[in-house]
Parts: sequence; C-alpha cells; structure tokens
Amino acid sequence: MKQEILYYLKDHRDSFVSGEALSDILGISRTAVWKYINELKNEGYSFEASSRKGYRLAAEPDRTSALAVGYRLQTECIGCRLEYLPVVDSTNSYAKHLAAQGCKEGTVVLTECQTAGRGRLGRGWESPAGMGIWMSIVLRPVIAPSEVQIITLGASVAVVDAIRKVYGLETSIKWPNDVILHGKKVCGILTEMSMEMDRVNYLILGVGININHKAEDFPLELRDKAASLRMESGGGDMLPRVPLTQEVLRQLEHQYRRVLAAEPAAILEDWKQRSLTVGSQVSFTIKDVRYDGIANDITEDGRLVVQCSDGVERKLLSGEISVRGMLGYV
Ligand code: BTN
Repeated sequence: MKQEILYYLKDHRDSFVSGEALSDILGISRTAVWKYINELKNEGYSFEASSRKGYRLAAEPDRTSALAVGYRLQTECIGCRLEYLPVVDSTNSYAKHLAAQGCKEGTVVLTECQTAGRGRLGRGWESPAGMGIWMSIVLRPVIAPSEVQIITLGASVAVVDAIRKVYGLETSIKWPNDVILHGKKVCGILTEMSMEMDRVNYLILGVGININHKAEDFPLELRDKAASLRMESGGGDMLPRVPLTQEVLRQLEHQYRRVLAAEPAAILEDWKQRSLTVGSQVSFTIKDVRYDGIANDITEDGRLVVQCSDGVERKLLSGEISVRGMLGYV
C-alpha cells in the first residue's frame, strides 16, 4: 500500500492530493494513509503537507530502492521482483541464495553498499554507500553453458547504451565486459553460473557501476585505473542513480531477448561497435608467459581473436588483457 500511495503522489506531483482522496482511491483509512506517509518520510521522501489541501511529493531520496526503481520500470522479465537491502556482503552472493531457492527469472537484488563486493578473477570490488549501482540479476536461460559469454557481452552493451541515454556520456568496452570512460574503468560485470553438463541452471549477472565517487574515494592503487562517471564528466553535481538503474534493466531486457531469440550476431555487432579492444594493441599472460599482439575480431561464442607478434593467432575465452592506452597500459 505504501507503494500505491507513493506512486499516486508521483503521478500527481503537480498538485496536492487530500488524505481523504487517497483513502477513498486506495480503500484504506486516513490513519493508514498517515502511517504510510510517515514511513515514506522515514525513508527520505519529503512532502508538502497542508491540512486543507493534503499532500504533495516535494523531494525523493536518490536511493536504488525497490520502490524507486520499480516506478514505471516497464520491463516484463528483468525486474519482475526487486529485492533491496540497504547493506549486504555481495549482491551476487545474495542473488545466488535466492536462485538456489528457486526465485523467478528476472529477480534483481539491489543495495546501497556491499561489505564484500566481488570482482572478476577473485578480486574484490569497492562498493561504498550511495556511490554507485551495485546489483545482481538472476537469469535462467535455456542455452548451453558455452553460450553464456554472449549474455555477458550483451550486458556490457546494455550498460554503455543506458549510460549514453541517461547521462549523455559515450563509454566503450574493453574485452570482455569492462566499461571504460577516458581510459578508466567505470563499470565491471561479474557473471557467475550454476550448470550441469549441457545446461545452465541459473546465471547471476552482477553489475557494478561507479557513479558518484571522487578520486579520493578509490584506494590509491586503483586511482590510475578506475573512475566514476561523475569524475569523468566534470565532477559537478551528484548524478542521480535511479534513472540509470532503470535504464540498465530495460536495456538488459532488450539484450536478453536477443539472446533468447538466438541473435548472437546482432549482439556481437553492437559489442564491436562499442568496443575499444578490436583493432587495438593488446597484451596478455598465459602461464606466466606474456604475449603481445593485435586484437582482430571476436568469435560467435565471445572469444577474442589476437594475432600475436610471434605469428600465432590465439583465441582467448576468459582472463584479462591489457589494451594500449587504457587503465595505465601505455
Ligand atoms: C569486475 O571485476 O570487473 C566485475 C565487478 C562486478 C561488481 C558487481 S557489484 C554488484 C555485484 N555484486 C558483487 O559482489 N559483484 C558484482
């Protein structure tokens, strides 16, 4: 009911709505209306209230809560259930529990702050309160485990497109799915899966987007590699996180539909257009041996094709590459 009251006031934010009208429309007592308005106030919403005219929504907190993100989200699958925790160890770990208990596909776990955020290759992920979008999405695609990489690539396309649409910033992708702005990483994606021999049980798509950090919010060792969208766009006012969260979910739904419709070529084409990797000088390490070369292409299943300087063409499925000009590699 709290949601109904908030959404009604959001839909009518230009006018006052009386407590009596709210109680009639929603079929609850005026005391109940008052109680829910107070709950909303405790969550950071503020209202202009007048004993004659009623309530008008004055300001909303920039919190990635289920209430805020769910408003006019207009997706069918991704976000069908929104689970918000003010603090959690890792949204991926929490989403994994929900998935193992059989939660619906499209369930999204959102938080303000992770105390043990996880990154790729066993690393941690700094997730300070209110500075970014830290969320995980549960998917149950009926595809072979070998096709999962395309979902991860599609997710990075979704983030790039959402950032462009909401903030007007042009980011690009470093293989496989790091989102980069001005040579620094602003978003990482951690895909984890539970699978059997030839089928995926569930997939957890963890998305971390650095939005409002200042340089000093990053640990020293990350400052030449990581940045926030606000820092790289002039460091002005805090950027609102809710509209970007919603747009990422919408764009993810779009890309996910393409995966299910078996359109990997369309995703790969979009990925290539947004990628700074294909066509660049790259280096990588396999078993302590360093290789250099030019990244030429990406295969149907998401492997990066590198023409190495020793004359051998190598296809990388996972791991990390350095791309000249990015993240401190000169
Ligand atoms: C990377 O190393 O590039 C991937 C980082 C992924 C971070 C996100 S934040 C939300 C979700 N929960 C986690 O613990 N990790 C992912």
